[in-house]
Amino acid sequence: MHHAAYVFDAYGTLFDVHAAVRRHASDIGPKGQLLSEIWRAKQLEYSWVRSLMGAYADFWQLTEQALDFALRKVPSADASLRQKLLDAYWNLDCYPEVPGVLRALKASGAKLAVLSNGSPEMLNAAVKSAALDQILDDVFSVDEVKRFKTDPNVYDIVTTAWRLYPAAVSFQSSNRWDVAGATKAGFRTVWINRADQPDEYQDFSPTLILPSLEGLLTYG
Ligand code: LAC
Repeated sequence: MHHAAYVFDAYGTLFDVHAAVRRHASDIGPKGQLLSEIWRAKQLEYSWVRSLMGAYADFWQLTEQALDFALRKVPSADASLRQKLLDAYWNLDCYPEVPGVLRALKASGAKLAVLSNGSPEMLNAAVKSAALDQILDDVFSVDEVKRFKTDPNVYDIVTTAWRLYPAAVSFQSSNRWDVAGATKAGFRTVWINRADQPDEYQDFSPTLILPSLEGLLTYG
């Protein structure tokens, strides 16, 4: 563990975004996975489009709008579950290795934070619900700059707040596009390739590719 600071993406990296639909899988029926994938894809598309347009709306609003679209695309899913699915987003399951890895990194003396598109309210709720609030030094939200990832201003939030050079920060994300943005910003990057996806953005490659956060304890 050689880095002064470890910064983690939230959704998909620490928290399982598909846990919300999975929790209500029996009520949703066979199209649950499709619903969850459309929900996530639209949530991200809205973030990129709004950043390009310069028309920021916080990630919670985008999450609601994306679910409304997904429920219309998958009419077999009971739309009356809308509120339950949204409520689940405030206390998503974290991946099993997350608390142990974060605790070990913290014990090594590193600073730890989240840097996420999420609104401060939804991030604080998710972090608290997974009991990560005791371990993290900071929870940084893009809301501070009213732009979404991969706008360079987003990654600057960390280096400005902590007065560190980007190379001193190890940034972990399961989202390959987010890894590209963080690499461009000068961070050391680790792609947590949980879903065993093919590589992309080869001109902005991560330093390390790991299947879960666990490998950070070995490879630093
Ligand atoms: C986040 C998005 C990328 O947490 O999931 O920033």
